[in-house]
Amino acid sequence: MSEICVQGCRPLTGEINIQGSKNGVLPMLAASVLQRETLKFTNVPIIQDVLCMVGILESVGCCCRWDGHSLSIDASGEIYGEIPRKDVGKMRSSILLMGALLGRTGRAVTWQPGGCSIGSRPVDLHLLAFSRLGAVVSEDEEGKIEASAKELTGSMVYFPFPSVGATENALLAAVLARGKTVIEGAAREPEIISLCQLLRRMGADICGEGSSRIEVCGVERLFGTVFDVPGDRIAAGTYLAAVAGAGGHVRILKGPWEFMQEEIRVFRQIGAEVEPISSKTGEVCGIELWMEKRPKAISLSTGPYPGFPTDLQSPMLAVLSRAEGISQVREAVFEARFKTAGQLQKMGAQIEVSGNCARIFGQERLLGARVQAMDLRGGAALAAAALAACGETMITDCIHIERGYEDICRDIRLLHGEICWVQKK
Ligand code: UD1
Repeated sequence: MSEICVQGCRPLTGEINIQGSKNGVLPMLAASVLQRETLKFTNVPIIQDVLCMVGILESVGCCCRWDGHSLSIDASGEIYGEIPRKDVGKMRSSILLMGALLGRTGRAVTWQPGGCSIGSRPVDLHLLAFSRLGAVVSEDEEGKIEASAKELTGSMVYFPFPSVGATENALLAAVLARGKTVIEGAAREPEIISLCQLLRRMGADICGEGSSRIEVCGVERLFGTVFDVPGDRIAAGTYLAAVAGAGGHVRILKGPWEFMQEEIRVFRQIGAEVEPISSKTGEVCGIELWMEKRPKAISLSTGPYPGFPTDLQSPMLAVLSRAEGISQVREAVFEARFKTAGQLQKMGAQIEVSGNCARIFGQERLLGARVQAMDLRGGAALAAAALAACGETMITDCIHIERGYEDICRDIRLLHGEICWVQKK
């Protein structure tokens, strides 16, 4: 079992390069089976979810080769449409391979996916997209999901909720379909934009990404290319939250300023000074944050992009636990994402959860304690809280954190935080 030990109550100062985006790269890895050459990614985060996805790609027939943070995926050989059950339970993004496999082989078989337990996570919208494109979709009582189509045909796909994964799956299935697909109610997340940029580089015909209507004209074939994975806005936001809670001054290089406007607004609202970092050529290349006082209480609601990301709700809970005054947080994306509140309470936080809302009665001091990472972002939130808390905190079950952060201890030590792995798997 991986555990992290933190000595808190010290301001954080320093500069880090942010890792490549976890949620960005996972659908891109799925896209690699759509081409019959080699796709090379640079700036790939070496995290458990990526390693798991690479394992699945190998089991369906791809040859994957790492060189530092570069990853080449050769999909020129035969690709099988069936994802092994043992791999699927470990991560939810295995479902993203379905659209791509359907596009490549005309058949995709998978199982109800795993991932964080943050509420019921159905895949009905993913399956709806496949059937709109002409696939026959079935699911048995053991959770086996199958989709097959002699030929996918472009169509109108309407999502009643802008699901990120379902939008990605619809895109992956539509790029090689015959004719035009229009996705209405599409998610607008930056990860959709980067996936479309990659697919276009591979030869796809797509427009409208970043809006709620995306149009795809199917093409005959896609090709290999080289693509640089953008910086991880959620990892950047987690470290900004850690500094907002503990105080200090941080420079996050490659932090995607353009796509973090809502987070920046919220950090400013709680009293942080936040500015873009510019390169010598004048381009924005990161985010700088100063926090000199205790955070101020605020009201916050998560929401699909451009709203405040649900993945940063737990880190904000940690920050607001130390705020001056009473804060309110509403979780509008996943219904069971306040599990970390109970762990923060062990550190002295006063949080009342009622349904999808939490009231946080800010405390001047949090105290170190033994706490358990309940999920990926919740685990990282505990690290942020621990850095602001007096004394020592032990975080157990950090395997959750390793799913999404390449090395949270390395990164925070670069900010002069006292944090180390006690046991690492
Ligand atoms: C992705 C992110 C995750 C983030 C989430 C919301 C990845 C790998 N994960 O997850 O970190 O928290 O977006 O920004 O990119 N829903 C349905 N039916 C479906 C699909 C989704 O009802 O078929 C619901 C979900 O239960 C949830 C909401 O839609 O309440 C949002 O889910 P979705 O946007 O699909 O999230 P993911 O793609 O799973």
